[in-house]
Amino acid sequence: MTVSLVAARALNNIIGNGPDIPWQVKGEQKLFREITIGGILIMGRKTYESIGRPLPGRRTIIVTRNSAYSVLGCEIASSLSTALQAVSNDPRPVFIVGGGQIYQQALAQGLADAVHLTTIQTEVEGDITFPDFPTPDFKLVKETHFASNIDYLYQYFEKTPSPIE
Ligand SMILES: NC(=O)c1ccc[n+]([C@@H]2O[C@H](COP(=O)([O-])OP(=O)(O)OC[C@H]3O[C@@H](n4cnc5c(N)ncnc54)[C@H](OP(=O)(O)O)[C@@H]3O)[C@@H](O)[C@H]2O)c1
Repeated sequence: MTVSLVAARALNNIIGNGPDIPWQVKGEQKLFREITIGGILIMGRKTYESIGRPLPGRRTIIVTRNSAYSVLGCEIASSLSTALQAVSNDPRPVFIVGGGQIYQQALAQGLADAVHLTTIQTEVEGDITFPDFPTPDFKLVKETHFASNIDYLYQYFEKTPSPIE
């Protein structure tokens, strides 16, 4: 099972403002769709509520501590590791897609094998941030610059294998 993070941040590391993503960049959502279509999305409850519906063509798991939470067309998990267990026999690629709390936990717990990171080439105001990245255990594999109403940089990182002890 390959687990990837998919995130977009501004140059000042902001990913959200309250429930909202504080930019509108032509092409960036299309890129998210191309990366994730046909796969499994794992997201925090606040991110799900800011999207407001299951995204088509993808299995969706919402992480919440509320055992009564229920959404038609999505599955619920009580933690990130429970979500990953629930999809462990599914051959589709797994994407952890935010928000701030979930990215922080996924990176701190070493759950991501790869990171798809888009950096919007401007600074914005907001209160939700992406963790410090890249950390030394990730290496840049590929990057593409996109020109748009605000230019953005897509980078793909993979985890480097741990040295044998
Ligand atoms: N730019 C991007 O790429 C991107 C991507 C996604 C989201 N966002 C933005 O990020 C913001 C949302 O991020 P956020 O940090 O506020 O919220 P979040 O990470 O989306 O969701 C937080 C919620 O997830 C649940 N949760 C977190 N850790 C858990 C755990 N260990 N076990 C069980 N449940 C857990 C809790 O739900 P309960 O309270 O229900 O228990 C918690 O309130 C929004 O602004 C959104 O637009 C940006």
